[in-house]
Amino acid sequence: MDKLTSANKYIKENLEKTGSKPLYHFAPPIGWMNDPNGFSYFNDEYHLFYQFGPYDIFWKDIHWGHAVADDMLNWRHMPVVMAPDTIADISGCFSGSAIEKDGELYLMYTGHTDPNMGFEPVESEIIQRQCLGRYSEDGAVEKCFSNPVIDEDDLPDNYCRYDFRDPKVFRLGEKYYCVLAVRNEEKRGSILLYKSDDLVEWSFVGDIYRRDATDNTMFECPDLFRLGDKDVLVLSIMPCSSEYSDEIKNRVEYVVGRMDYEESQFHEENRGLLDYGSNYYAPQTTLDKNGNRVIIGWICDWSKANEEFVRNYGYNGIMTLPRVMELDSGRIVLKPVAEMKEHELLLRKGNSLKLEGNVLLAGDEVNKHISLKISRLTEILSIILFKNETKRLSFTFDPYVNSVKLNSDYTIKVDKSVPCDLSCLLNIEVFVDMHCVELYVNGMAFTFLCYDKDKGQENYIFSEGGQLIDEMAVSEIVNVSIH
Ligand code: FRU
Repeated sequence: MDKLTSANKYIKENLEKTGSKPLYHFAPPIGWMNDPNGFSYFNDEYHLFYQFGPYDIFWKDIHWGHAVADDMLNWRHMPVVMAPDTIADISGCFSGSAIEKDGELYLMYTGHTDPNMGFEPVESEIIQRQCLGRYSEDGAVEKCFSNPVIDEDDLPDNYCRYDFRDPKVFRLGEKYYCVLAVRNEEKRGSILLYKSDDLVEWSFVGDIYRRDATDNTMFECPDLFRLGDKDVLVLSIMPCSSEYSDEIKNRVEYVVGRMDYEESQFHEENRGLLDYGSNYYAPQTTLDKNGNRVIIGWICDWSKANEEFVRNYGYNGIMTLPRVMELDSGRIVLKPVAEMKEHELLLRKGNSLKLEGNVLLAGDEVNKHISLKISRLTEILSIILFKNETKRLSFTFDPYVNSVKLNSDYTIKVDKSVPCDLSCLLNIEVFVDMHCVELYVNGMAFTFLCYDKDKGQENYIFSEGGQLIDEMAVSEIVNVSIH
């Protein structure tokens, strides 16, 4: 049986052994999921492909999974579209993107080949090449006959062919372009730009972006697009080698600037983090049907710390809610797509509430949206989630030091402070789901993963000194169906 048929058969036969899925965040039907791929709007439907390892709950044997939706929320699982089954991608169909051409959806991805499969990889023997496929309505992808379409011969001297991946393709006028992550001659990250008339023949344009070698960073999953009157690069950043600081891990940055296609240079104006939580990586953007730039990311955990839980659930990996991106004075601000509003059932609402101690926010269901408006934060305020007798995930807003303190006692420990301007009108939104939480504070997003089985289900807000909450609403998220 071919690898694609085997994967689809395996899912069908084992699906009922999985459980504990999020209620309104996307998760794979079974097995392992990492990066979103080929996120696109095509033929009146949203498509979400993703890095998918059907047979294990950890990263292995990477295929492309697939789901479709009318609204980016109610996803329907579709058959697996690609398996690592050709000479160009035999060790994995790595990340990539989608683009429409002549009424068809094309997928461009990285074919990973490692002759030491399953054993310690040897960098010099690994090759990553860019491949093309055409999505067909019967649910599979026809891989292009002339794959790979960009290979090591298209890479200028001294760039590393073993770290050369994650094509994000886009169109400008009559031309197709793609940005790719690579390690340059200094063994640091660079973003390369390629150009094509037909998606099959590609030519090298330039090395458009790199940082000082002392930064020790390598970029993955680049994305380049226009937002308002600026160009934006999104980069998932990893340390160049494991000896470098943990702080670099799981950082996703945006860089706002101007892309000069004549000069092949991205001119940086400013940059920032796209997410301030602990579990966010490899996001990808698309334009929605209304022309908004929407980004979806992987709620990541590379560690095996949660093995006990995820083995029991039979799947590992969740996506964030799709978020609309906007620019505000050079800063990116994020909010969940408006479609979320259609799924909110108001449970309680209050105006001008004076907080004296603990206020229980909602009962024992996890599908909640909590929204607070505070015109002037004068007291320390905490939002306490998943509270049981000994553990909790909490966010503490401290106006005296202008920061949000993030804490979790669960398996993925969190203990950090993020500087945040709390002196203005505060719009705080919290989305709680089965194993993940998203916090939004005036457009800053924070993502957390918590697979623990013994999580408490109670959510509180707490403040001692009579903090005034101008508006509070607690809703249940209803009728989101992911199947
Ligand atoms: C990011 C990443 C990509 C790669 C993929 C492999 O999480 O490392 O760079 O294409 O995962 O699954």
